[in-house]
Amino acid sequence: TTINWSLAQAEKAGYKHFMLKEIYEQPRAVADTISGNLPWFRGEMPIKGLGNFKPERIQIVACGTSYYAGLVGKFYFENFARIPTEVDYASEYRYRNPVVNENTLIIAITQSGETADTLAAMRLAKERKAKVLTVCNVIGSSATRESDAVLYTYAGPEISVASTKAFTTQLTVLYLLSIHFAVRKNLISNPDIYLEKISEIPSLMEQFLEEEKKKQEVKNLADRFHKVSNALYLGRHVNYPIALEGALKLKEISYIHAEGYPAGEMKHGPIALIDENMPVVTIATKGRVYEKILSNLAEVKSRKGITITVTNESCKEVIENSDFSIIVPETDEFLSPLINVIPLQLLAYYIADFLGYDVDQPRNLAKSVTVE
Ligand code: AGP
Repeated sequence: TTINWSLAQAEKAGYKHFMLKEIYEQPRAVADTISGNLPWFRGEMPIKGLGNFKPERIQIVACGTSYYAGLVGKFYFENFARIPTEVDYASEYRYRNPVVNENTLIIAITQSGETADTLAAMRLAKERKAKVLTVCNVIGSSATRESDAVLYTYAGPEISVASTKAFTTQLTVLYLLSIHFAVRKNLISNPDIYLEKISEIPSLMEQFLEEEKKKQEVKNLADRFHKVSNALYLGRHVNYPIALEGALKLKEISYIHAEGYPAGEMKHGPIALIDENMPVVTIATKGRVYEKILSNLAEVKSRKGITITVTNESCKEVIENSDFSIIVPETDEFLSPLINVIPLQLLAYYIADFLGYDVDQPRNLAKSVTVE
């Protein structure tokens, strides 16, 4: 499917910044990415260049936000397809003399397809006979030309340096691919159940994005916290990478120091950082680690940290123990990252906008890091 995105698409379409437009394009981008990848997901055609290849191991190489997508992907490949999966910063992968062979599938995740570190990691793996699949948003980019197989995200041009719709569409492709491998290994008999779950995501995203009240809540939080100098983002399990991504969004467009951490790791040191000036954003939605997150929240509160939570309507205890809660629609635990990241994208956006910074072109940053 060629993407003939008109010039209009590359305009801001009435939004103040491309980043805000791209945050609001996510329902459409995820829907397009699902339909664009349906033919191979439905088995109507093989994944070109992959054929019947059954990877014994997966190594994901990526940078920045795409690396965080890879961390979520690890949960998908190991939970659904039981394939041991490693995730490396591409810039580190080349120097650790990785164990790679013809039974290894390298998944390079790159929105631009031009990131030098990711290209270099791919080249190393190819030299060692690995099969390379790229998840990419730009047709004909270098990464797509150097891969054995390519799975496209159909997010459309992502202009803002801060990646948003590319991230949620990367998660979409990784989820579909993990179910595809699970079916091939006879671990899942009916993929349609999973297709149904992810097909609900665009409308759940829309539900959150279209609610004016929710937007205002996030704006009020941004107004209240745009002068902080530090922030902590906490998450567990599939939402731990979302804590990392939320922190990166804040860092790269508002220049505020923010750190994402696995919530369970706080007691091993970082909790010493928490005081009444430290906003702690915690992702606390329904799932197998809900009770654990609740106790982490209590740890933050007992140290007078400011608790901001991304949670569900039904999570009463979380709401009661939060100074501020952003309620998001409940969904399947493994798909919750696609929803939970949105308030974090908006929070970073509004904080940067309150600070009057150039949101789409943050200082010192490039949309594609083509140098090592
Ligand atoms: C994310 O908001 C940043 N723009 C940056 O971390 C980006 O994700 C990274 O440079 C990787 O880019 P790529 O996906 O085009 O390879």
